[in-house]
Amino acid sequence: MQRIILIGYMGAGKTTVGKALARDLELDFYDLDWYIEDRFRKKIPQIFAEKGESGFREMERNMLREVGEFENVVISAGGGTPCFFDNIGYMNEKADTIYLNASVDVLYAHLMMGKSQRPLIEGKSPEELREFIKESLAGREPFYRQARYMVDVDVIEHKSQIQALADKIKNIITTEKRIVD
Ligand code: S3P
Repeated sequence: MQRIILIGYMGAGKTTVGKALARDLELDFYDLDWYIEDRFRKKIPQIFAEKGESGFREMERNMLREVGEFENVVISAGGGTPCFFDNIGYMNEKADTIYLNASVDVLYAHLMMGKSQRPLIEGKSPEELREFIKESLAGREPFYRQARYMVDVDVIEHKSQIQALADKIKNIITTEKRIVD
C-alpha cells in the first residue's frame, strides 16, 4: 500500500507535481482543497468568507483525516495544512510526506499569477505579497521541515522538469522502501 502526501507553500507546485507523480506510480490523485470543495460544494474563498480562517482550518483538519485513510494515493495538501493542529504528526503517521521546497522568489513569481483564488493573498500589492510570503514562509518552515523527505522545486520552469521532479521523488521513495524492506 502506498500513500504519499505533498506539502509546501502555496505556489510550490504541489498539485502539478502530485498529478505527475500519481500518474507515474499508477496511484489515484487527490488535492485536499478540491476534496473540501467537492464535499461541501463550496469554493475555498467562499468558505473563508463565511466561516473565517479558523472555520476553514477545522474543515481542513477533518477532511485531511478522511483522505488520509485512502489507500494507494498521492495527496497534495493545502499550503497551511501542516501548520495547524497536529496535522503534520498525523500526515507523518499515515504517509510518506514530501516537502516541496521553493524560494521566496519562485513562490512570488507563481503566486503573482494566481492571487484571486487564494483568500490569504487576495488584494495584496506586489510588495505586500513578497513581504507576506517571506514572513509566513519563515513561520511555516519548521512545520514543513518535519516532512520525511524534502525536494527542491526551484528548477521547475518547463513541463519536462515537472516530470523529472516526479521521477526524482519516485526514486527517493522507492530506494528507501527497498532499504527498509
Ligand atoms: C492556504 C493554501 C491554499 C488553501 C487555502 C489556504 C494556505 O492551498 O488551502 O487558500 O494557508 O497556505 P494551496 O497551497 O493549494 O494554494
